Amino acid sequence: MITLALSKGRIFQETLPLLASAGIEVLEDPEKSRKLILPTNRPDVQVVLVRASDVPTYVEYGGADVGVCGKDTLIEHQAEWGTHGLYQPLDLRIAKCRMSVAVRADFDYANAVRQGARLAVATKYTAIAREFFATKGVHVDLIKLYGSMELAPLTGLADAIVDLVSTGNTLKANHLVEVEHIMDISSRLVVNQAALKVKQASLRPIIDAFAQAVSASV
Ligand code: PRP
Repeated sequence: MITLALSKGRIFQETLPLLASAGIEVLEDPEKSRKLILPTNRPDVQVVLVRASDVPTYVEYGGADVGVCGKDTLIEHQAEWGTHGLYQPLDLRIAKCRMSVAVRADFDYANAVRQGARLAVATKYTAIAREFFATKGVHVDLIKLYGSMELAPLTGLADAIVDLVSTGNTLKANHLVEVEHIMDISSRLVVNQAALKVKQASLRPIIDAFAQAVSASV
């Protein structure tokens, strides 16, 4: 059995065409079902639904053989736990967005940074934020949040946030503006290294089909 770990939402939806290119069709819609293990048209392939930040953990420890997760998730996982049995063969170029710094429209970010003030930064992505501001030489107090980061500057909890931006609509709706582009983000394929050896015969064709579909879409 090949087990593929996916998170619900954009990653799940944008992985479906890649699976189709490997001849795999997921037989249930996660938005309509409460099931966490979804069957596919292939009796030897199943999908497990996990939180995005749990995908590297599942794959690394063999709860899944293969998974799809954002570069942001991988960097944070790596910073906290290291990566031991995780092979990252492919940038799937899906679920594209960017990691940015945003502040209230009336906050003078350039001035705060220039004056060497300590910046209070709220984020779920503490490793990325720490590294980014350290490289810039800006002192920051990091405040770890697990969601709704946009609220932090509005309530006075923080001066700035580090968060994912896709359309920019969430920032706009909350009167925040992007002041730094930290990095582009897309989702990667991650594979359990032991599974790659032991299940080579069934995993390789799937990885190769994904690779072909990605290069065809460029
Ligand atoms: C992300 C991010 C923003 C939003 C940005 O959240 O944290 O809130 O998307 O998208 P936009 O620029 O298109 O408005 P997501 O919906 O992934 O949920 P999360 O808060 O659970 O990470």
